Amino acid sequence: MRIAVVGTGYVGLVVGACFAETGNDVVCVDKDAAKVRMLARGKVPIYEPGLEDLVRRNRTEKRLSFTTRLPDAVRHAEVVFIAVGTPTGEDGSADLQHVLGAAKAIARGMRGYTVVVDKSTVPVGTSELVRDVIRRETTHPFSVVSNPEFLKQGAAVEDFLKPDRVVIGASDERAATVMTELYRPFTRTGAPIMVMDTASAELCKYAANAMLATRISFMNEIANVCERVGADVDKVRQAVASDRRIGAAFLFPGVGYGGSCFPKDVKAILKFSADRKYRFRILEAVEAVNEAQKRRLLERVDKHFGRSLKGRTIGVWGLSFKPRTDDMREAPAIPIIEGLLDRGAKVVAFDPEAKEIAKRHFGKRIRYARLAYDALVGADALLVVTEWNEFREPDFRKMKRLMKQPVIFDGRNIYDPDYIRGFGFTYTSIGRP
Ligand SMILES: NC(=O)c1ccc[n+]([C@@H]2O[C@H](COP(=O)([O-])OP(=O)(O)OC[C@H]3O[C@@H](n4cnc5c(N)ncnc54)[C@H](O)[C@@H]3O)[C@@H](O)[C@H]2O)c1
Repeated sequence: MRIAVVGTGYVGLVVGACFAETGNDVVCVDKDAAKVRMLARGKVPIYEPGLEDLVRRNRTEKRLSFTTRLPDAVRHAEVVFIAVGTPTGEDGSADLQHVLGAAKAIARGMRGYTVVVDKSTVPVGTSELVRDVIRRETTHPFSVVSNPEFLKQGAAVEDFLKPDRVVIGASDERAATVMTELYRPFTRTGAPIMVMDTASAELCKYAANAMLATRISFMNEIANVCERVGADVDKVRQAVASDRRIGAAFLFPGVGYGGSCFPKDVKAILKFSADRKYRFRILEAVEAVNEAQKRRLLERVDKHFGRSLKGRTIGVWGLSFKPRTDDMREAPAIPIIEGLLDRGAKVVAFDPEAKEIAKRHFGKRIRYARLAYDALVGADALLVVTEWNEFREPDFRKMKRLMKQPVIFDGRNIYDPDYIRGFGFTYTSIGRP
């Protein structure tokens, strides 16, 4: 099929590259000219495992191209995906200006029957708004479909190629058939394609993210109780997770959830529920717990060093909101580092992929280590903020030699407390004795 994808970010680029991979002819559009120039040269502007190879191969084989000219891309497309951002607006709702702006531009570029697919995460009712916008701009026939995306950054390509399920919200059979055909190659191993009404499809995505955020905040609460009753959250988590009704995913305590989705999607569902006179109490708590959790590591630091960190150097491992991505949107590392700077510390941070993005945020206020161990030289303490694999089995003897004081605050529970204390470290983690 001939496909256009509007918005070439973490979602749009993966969607475009994966549909090209199954033989479709895909044009990716972005208004960011620098991004498009880079992609057109075969360079991928974000870090996402496996994506660069996919983009390069499909570009070389001429199934994938990039442009800033939306009308050109839409003119030839049978299916147009909207994959632009839906950031939090001032009142907590999802800001739909990019989605509706894209819909208007798509309508103006259409030259015949087109399936317009909303891939962005949008509140219930948005497909109606998109339909109204398009109807005002064109006389060509079209369908609007809601097709929420469930990929996770860090494993986005794999998630897209092998989805747990595909959700299609469509109000007409013609569009549902086109979408089912498009996704058939990805669901051959039996993953279901779930066709439903658009309102249910739109809500699916928020319900899934809200549930995952709830699990994280719930486990953070359990960890906080563990600390007060002398229990070990690792043991509790493993026992709870082995219950088949519960399962192991998203039950790790830490420094709170971040990223471009959970914080904004929790806010958005709270807002559109409140707009319909429904107070979503659990999610209010999930959000409040998460905000408090981001401060936990700093509270530990205060307890150890006192409120001032003047004259102290603190190493930080991990800046991205989770491993295997360079994305720092709403990353817990941001408030944690700001807190360290407020207390007068010198911060030396290391992240395998997020350094350039961190520079845009912190500028020269912190130093950026080239290697993980460089962040430890002369440090009074190390804070582990993101659980990149390469932090899991470091050379503890070398770490101790490099640091001024052997103190570790582990926000992700990646070390065994007894083992690491055996090297002479003062070690604090989340919810463990
Ligand atoms: N990031 C994720 O893991 C993830 C997962 C599932 C769903 N989502 C949802 O997908 C949507 C996109 O997320 P993202 O992380 O890819 O965002 P992103 O910010 O990385 O990318 C959005 C892109 O859209 C471009 N854009 C905006 N308006 C445009 C326009 N009118 N024409 C052309 N390009 C335009 C921007 O320049 C940007 O490159 C959001 O609604 C998000 O909630 C994200």
